Amino acid sequence: MTEYVKLIIGDKTYQFPVVTGSEGEKAIDISNLRQMTGYITLDPGFVNTGSCESAITYMDGEKGILRYRGIPIEELAEHSTFREVAYLLINGVLPTYKEINRFSVMLNDHSLVHEDMRKFFENFPRASHPMGILSSMVTTLISFYPYLESTEEEINMTVTRLISKVRTLAAISYKISRGHNVVYPRHDFSYCANFLNMMFDSPVKPYQIDEDIVRALNVFLILHADHEQNCSTSAVRVVGSARVNPYATVSAGIAALWGPLHGGANQEVIKMLYDIKERGATVKQMIEKAKDKNDPFRLMGFGHRVYKTYDPRAKIMKKMCDKVLEKLEKPDPLLDIAKDLEEAALNDEYFISHHLYPNVDFYSGIILRAIGIPTNMFTVMFAMGRLPGWIAQWRESMEDPKWKITRPRQIYMGPKKTEYTPIQERK
Ligand code: ACO
Repeated sequence: MTEYVKLIIGDKTYQFPVVTGSEGEKAIDISNLRQMTGYITLDPGFVNTGSCESAITYMDGEKGILRYRGIPIEELAEHSTFREVAYLLINGVLPTYKEINRFSVMLNDHSLVHEDMRKFFENFPRASHPMGILSSMVTTLISFYPYLESTEEEINMTVTRLISKVRTLAAISYKISRGHNVVYPRHDFSYCANFLNMMFDSPVKPYQIDEDIVRALNVFLILHADHEQNCSTSAVRVVGSARVNPYATVSAGIAALWGPLHGGANQEVIKMLYDIKERGATVKQMIEKAKDKNDPFRLMGFGHRVYKTYDPRAKIMKKMCDKVLEKLEKPDPLLDIAKDLEEAALNDEYFISHHLYPNVDFYSGIILRAIGIPTNMFTVMFAMGRLPGWIAQWRESMEDPKWKITRPRQIYMGPKKTEYTPIQERK
């Protein structure tokens, strides 16, 4: 039986249906609100607004739960590969042997990028941020692979192209920024090993694939693969709702992810830890600075719109940090500083009362540094990870019979009707 809530405006009572999710979360369906009452809702930052119904990812911010298609993130991080998780997110179920093999063959078949794309890369100024390059290059893919029809086969091809080529584009952008030769993808390597090889192989020093590092990269990418309606995914859904091609749609996600309050935080965390290590700032000073309302600084890698407890991804990432550094026998003083900072924040009344805990970005940069990824590529790594999530969400929205172009309203607070003043009469 449908549950309803009542809204009383003046002497009128309206009823709105309640939508209940499979884990019991409730939403008031106000899709007819304006039509029935003449009112709209106002919710800056969409703090209380559900933009869609989705069957992809479940999060419980109070309990620190994250599941992809129902499977806990801890199990996926322990047992799965990024390639398999990408398949799961996009197709809704874990693949059989046959399905994963077919997916791998397609990823291999589409791993090269058109040689003409190299010319674009070569003409970006050297200091360009790789996120800007990646977002431009992903949009450019439409020129090389014009999107034809919305058939299942065509969409699958585009999806595979994106997952395979974004990895190649990311590695090329790094190689070109170093002034090094581009390394081509190889069919005999797994998804993550291939990426590491494209990044680090060189004619003078062949890259040695280390399965523990490949595993660490798999886990890093799995942890980033989806996070329901975050800023970049919402950007993907909003842009996609105008029915623009999937390359431009994903590119919008990359642009949103770049921001320091979102995926760009992983780069900012390392800067912050460096400030402590190199510039003599202390953990205590950083904590005080983050608490100071007159200072825009925030403790990077801390806090989350949904998690009001420890981010489950951060827990896995922290353990992985210890493992990777131990394996590489490469202690990183930044990890010790991060742990001190975490401990100080978790014992500080401000952080406790504001429910601020480490998020996924707090420890991820330390793993990436250990693998050899330069800081300005950190958010690109996040983008590679988030790609299957963006694609799954875009695909789900396309298949939703209620899919409409996203077009919020506003409450206008500007001047009332004003006459045009000719320039000669203006003061
Ligand atoms: N350091 C200090 N104070 C913080 C922090 C922080 N990292 N995060 C939130 N707060 C405080 C705010 O100042 C505010 O305090 P007040 O209520 O006393 O004014 C309160 O906590 C709520 O903050 P909001 O900005 O309203 O929370 P919101 O949900 O909008 O923001 C966000 C979430 C953007 C993640 C925020 O916590 C933040 O800026 N964190 C640092 C950047 C970061 O790590 N981003 C990565 C997020 S995870 C991801 O995108 C992958």
